[in-house]
Amino acid sequence: MTTTTKQITMKLPDGPKTPDWLQKIQYITDPLGYMDSAYQRYGDIFNAPIIGNFKRLLLVSAPEGLQQLLTRDTKEFYAPSNGLLQVLVGDNSIFCLEGDRHRRERKLLMPPFHGERMRAYGQIICELTEQVFSQLTPSTTFSGRSVIQNISIEIILNVVFGIHEGESFHNLKQLISSLMDSFQSPLTSSLLFFPFLRKDLGAWSPWRNFSCLQQQIEQLIYAEIGDRRAQNDPSRTDILTLLMSARDENGEEMSDLQLHDELITLLFAGHETTATAISWALYWIHKYPEIRDKLLQELDTLGDSPEPMSIFKLPYLTAVCNETLRIYPVAPLTVPREVKEPVELMGYQLEPGTRVYGCIYLTHHREDLYPQPKEFRPERFLERQYTNYEFFPFGGGARRCIGEALAMFEMKLILATILSNYQLALADSRPVRPQRRGVTLAPAGGVKMVMKGRRIGQGQTSEPVASSV
Ligand code: HEM
Repeated sequence: MTTTTKQITMKLPDGPKTPDWLQKIQYITDPLGYMDSAYQRYGDIFNAPIIGNFKRLLLVSAPEGLQQLLTRDTKEFYAPSNGLLQVLVGDNSIFCLEGDRHRRERKLLMPPFHGERMRAYGQIICELTEQVFSQLTPSTTFSGRSVIQNISIEIILNVVFGIHEGESFHNLKQLISSLMDSFQSPLTSSLLFFPFLRKDLGAWSPWRNFSCLQQQIEQLIYAEIGDRRAQNDPSRTDILTLLMSARDENGEEMSDLQLHDELITLLFAGHETTATAISWALYWIHKYPEIRDKLLQELDTLGDSPEPMSIFKLPYLTAVCNETLRIYPVAPLTVPREVKEPVELMGYQLEPGTRVYGCIYLTHHREDLYPQPKEFRPERFLERQYTNYEFFPFGGGARRCIGEALAMFEMKLILATILSNYQLALADSRPVRPQRRGVTLAPAGGVKMVMKGRRIGQGQTSEPVASSV
């Protein structure tokens, strides 16, 4: 009998040799190029000091390593506060809480995004989509991402505050969109990565613009909290009411500051990511007419006015959404995990303080899991089941996305409503590339589309349809 001894190395995994500051700039300006070339050279786990001042910062893209990382992230690893998002969401955001407080906050926030409570949003999602699309006249060219963002922000304002009209609703909507859109520029995105750039350098400086928008949003949120405290209406079912009635183990309620940070977290995390995912899906569906036809065939089997839950369960629609989240995952990395006790990971002995990120993008592009990974092919999700460490657009473990079910629900219902009722086309036949938008990857240019008209039945429209691009 032969015995094999496992090789454990005390050395940190290798990684690109360029200076840290240059790697950071490469990662900010060309995240996919940086990750692809480091993977080709260094493989499944490499050292990439691209975030904060961590010299020992690893990106992992092998399912066995990810399984260990995400199932042991309250054991040898822990889920630290996310310094990158702190400037955006504040110290009391779930993103920045750790340990017991983090666990308690998750328990509080998860129920409204699941089960009955979430299903109640189905009707609103379909109505809002119809309302927004019915305003686009035939031949209008529009940015798919902006139009969808308009819908997703209304949905999240509804879920979080229970409001859908009025002055503060419109102002909040406007200001949040402007703040998020400012991250289209790599310079504003750099504010998240380089704290030294957070300086007011005059009227046109990105930090001045960012702080100004942030202050106005803050004022509106505090005003809403004040109004709600005054009204004290426990019959409301929105998240603000839920948070206001919560008590900690000492019977204390949440302070205004705690409420503010949590609300802003949900408003930001809850619409920006979803809008990006849906606009990518619109791009792929209209780039490949055969995919659109197949989706329409599947949707037509449900008849007129289908139930939201029957749309949610459609297999081909699910495969198209999964493939969309695979090929350009909105979040290319998980949030960080940190080594708490010396631990072995993929043959390396890691010391406390080492930061480890699951690299969602590289895992989703592994040839061994996804043959021809650069091709958009939804069928792969019908042919094979992927584990939570092979396909994980929403992360996993202690920090798994709390909005996953709502995001998938929105994606499917919005796409189904648009495809069943309207004919759209891409306005430009050139490929759309992913571009950094804060910590996410979004379609460069926002996916320009043309409204062709209402879809009456199988393939017919009320307006003449020009040749598709
Ligand atoms: C397509 C849409 C979305 C994607 C791709 C996405 C992705 C992610 C990812 C990758 C993480 C980190 C998970 C980890 O490190 O293990 C995360 C965390 C989180 N997401 Fe999402 N998300 C989406 C939509 C949403 C929505 C709709 C909401 C809220 C309503 C939301 C709220 C959050 C929150 C609060 C966290 C932090 C959880 C914690 O720290 O415990 N996300 N999301």
